[in-house]
This record gives sequence, C-alpha cells and structure tokens, in this order.
Amino acid sequence: MKILVTGGTGYIGSHTVVELLNSGFKVIVLDNLSNSNIEVLNGIESITGVRPEFHQVDITDKISLKKVFEYNGDISSVIHFAALKAVGESVIDPMLYYRNNILGFINLLDVMIGSNVLNIVFSSSCTVYGQAEELPVTELSPVKEAESPYGYTKQCGERFLNDLSAATKLKSIALRYFNPIGAHDSALIGELPIGVPNNLVPYITQTAAGEREILTVNGNDYPTPDGTNIRDYIHVVDIAKAHVIAVQRLIDNATVENPEIFNLGTGRGNSVMEIINVFEKVTERKLNYKIGPRRAGDVISIYSDTKKANEILGWRAERDLENMLLTAWNWQKRISNVKN
Ligand code: NAD
Ligand code: UFG
Repeated sequence: MKILVTGGTGYIGSHTVVELLNSGFKVIVLDNLSNSNIEVLNGIESITGVRPEFHQVDITDKISLKKVFEYNGDISSVIHFAALKAVGESVIDPMLYYRNNILGFINLLDVMIGSNVLNIVFSSSCTVYGQAEELPVTELSPVKEAESPYGYTKQCGERFLNDLSAATKLKSIALRYFNPIGAHDSALIGELPIGVPNNLVPYITQTAAGEREILTVNGNDYPTPDGTNIRDYIHVVDIAKAHVIAVQRLIDNATVENPEIFNLGTGRGNSVMEIINVFEKVTERKLNYKIGPRRAGDVISIYSDTKKANEILGWRAERDLENMLLTAWNWQKRISNVKN
C-alpha cells in the first residue's frame, strides 16, 4: 500500500514515515523543506534501510502537486502534516497561515478527490479546544473560537473534512495532538526547530547544550499546584504509531464516523516545573532557568481524555515522561555535538 506523506521530512512526519516503513507500507514523502532539511531522509534510511521517494513540492502549487499524483497512480491514502505551526507568527502574519495551511489543504483535497484518492489522515491540534471548561477534554468537548489564526486553520481543516464527507466519497480521520516531544531512540531523527525555539522542550535541550543561555519559565502565578502551566506531553513515536493505525483503519474501510476525530495524548498533565525537574533528573544536569512573565495566549491547563483512541483505535501512549525527555536530550546531544 502506497501512502503519500505531506510534511514528511518534518518532526512528526519523519517519525511517522519510519513507523510506516517499519510496518511494510510504501511511502512517498512530499515537502517544500520550508521547515525541515533534506538530510532527514538520511536518518530515515539509516533507521529503516529504505530511502523513500521524495518530491520537493509546495502544496500551494497545485500543478506540481497534481503531477505527484499522476506520477504515482496507485496512492491509497494521504497523511497530511504539511503546515506552518508557530502560533505567534500566525498572529503577526495571518495571510501566510491562510495561504499555506488553508489554501494548501484545499489544493490537496481537490487534487486527491480529482485523482480518486479518498483516504486522509489530518494533523489537528488540541488548540481547537482553547481553555476548556472541564478537564480532561474529550472529543465532544466544545471547540472554542480560535485564539490564533493558526488555531483557526486547524478548525477550518476539520470543517473541510466534515463538509466533504457529506458531499463526496472522501473518508477521513483527524488526530488532535496534545504536546508532542521526544525523538527517535536512535537519535537519528528528532525535532529541528529553525531559529529560536518557541516550544518548551527544544528550548530546554538547547539551553542544556549551551546553545541558549537561560530558559524563561513563562509565569508561575497560574492557578495550578506549582503556579506553572499544565500540558499533556506525549512521545512523538507514540503519535507516529497512531498514524499507522489510523491509515490502516481507512484502508480497511473500518471508520464509523466521517471524519473520525481522536485526541492523541497520554491523559496526564504535567506542569512546566515538573518538566524541568524530570529533565534534570534523567540527564543528571542542572538547567539554567528563571521565572518570567506569562506568555500571551497560553491556556492555564489542558490534558486529554484518551478513552476514544484507546477503545476504538486500540492505541495507547506507551512512553513516559522520562523517556520523552531522555530521547529529546540524546537527539540534542548528537546534533549539538555534546560529549556526555
Ligand atoms: P514541522 O514544521 O516539523 O513539519 C511540517 C513540515 O511541513 C515541514 O517539513 C515543512 O517544511 C512542511 N511544509 C510546511 N508548509 C508546506 C507547504 N506549503 N508545502 C509542503 N510542505 C510544507 O511540524 P510538526 O511539528 O511535524 O507538525 C506537523 C503537523 O502537526 C502540522 O500540521 C502541525 O500544525 C501539527 N501539529 C503539531 C503540533 C506540535 O506541537 N508539533 C501540535 C499539534 C499539531
Ligand atoms: N514555555 C516556557 N518557556 C519557554 C517555552 C514554553 O515556560 O521557553 C511554557 C509555555 O508557556 C507553556 C508550556 O511551556 O506553558 C508549553 O509550551 P509550548 O510552546 O511547548 O506548547 P504549547 O502548549 O503552547 O503549544 C503547542 C504547539 C502548538 C499546538 C499546541 C497544541 O506549539 O502548535 O501545542 O497542540 F497547537
């Protein structure tokens, strides 16, 4: 079975390509390399022994996108990761996000339907819930008005799938990720943020590697036990494995809703200070950090109810926080050439 993975050289995409290849799928990777590097394919090849077919294509370029589908007449399904994902950047330049994430997705859906490729797994996000009234959030928790253009693009994506499921033969699964962190056990692929990281874990590992001077904790006066924000951190390999199950489910024609929507989290919430403490413990290093002001737009706490994915997909997050932070650190050590 041939799967087209858009954004397949990116962080979550590359880990998913590895799991797909390890499960015996044929994989075509499509990426414009705007937020990833072609060398990721070397890492994938070293881990799996297979170098997937690669197309450097921008999904906003519909003609080139169509050529990939024409060249590969036997694509069974698409896993769609290609998107921009920086919340702050989306506030500064909404049009960039509308063009890339919304227009790009419309092109992809249009080309897929025109090519009779009718299965898609879509990367959604827990950002669609905003600050939920009740925790943990289930897939039935209300989707709140988006707090950023980025969040809005994810809500639009889910809406497109919903509308198209009624009007066409498209079948879809939307996976709402919580906070993916960690890296492959081999340390051959991992998260490679371009520029100063926005996210907590790459900032922590870069600080520990000496590439950043100090981590700023964004506020410790929230109404949580230690005053810092709570999130549901999940290992990227666990997320990747859920995609293999989801795509197989589409191929098997086993979906019972259209789109089917699943939370992908561990079901546990951890505070920023807990992440720092576990990182220090597993790496046996002191992290240089200070407490700073709150960051605009942060929800206080969010974590998932994972029952639906557990019961329907038969999937469950297996890796603990120690493993997430250790693999993230092993990857950082390799790319920053840290000796011990
Ligand atoms: P990433 O930036 O590492 O990967 C995205 C990939 O898509 C990159 O390789 C980039 O070059 C490519 N891309 C972007 N725009 C493209 C375009 N127009 N045409 C072709 N390729 C394009 O990000 P990631 O963390 O792997 O995220 C993957 C998906 O998961 C995204 O849709 C993101 O919004 C979603 N998501 C991520 C998180 C997270 O915390 N990482 C959380 C929830 C949802
Ligand atoms: N944080 C710090 N210092 C930093 C970076 C982050 O204290 O230098 C804090 C944040 O304020 C927040 C927590 O660490 O309390 C987690 O922040 P991240 O930026 O790592 O993650 P978010 O929960 O803000 O957002 C992430 C992705 C979004 C995605 C969202 C939900 O960045 O793209 O998860 O899936 F939409």
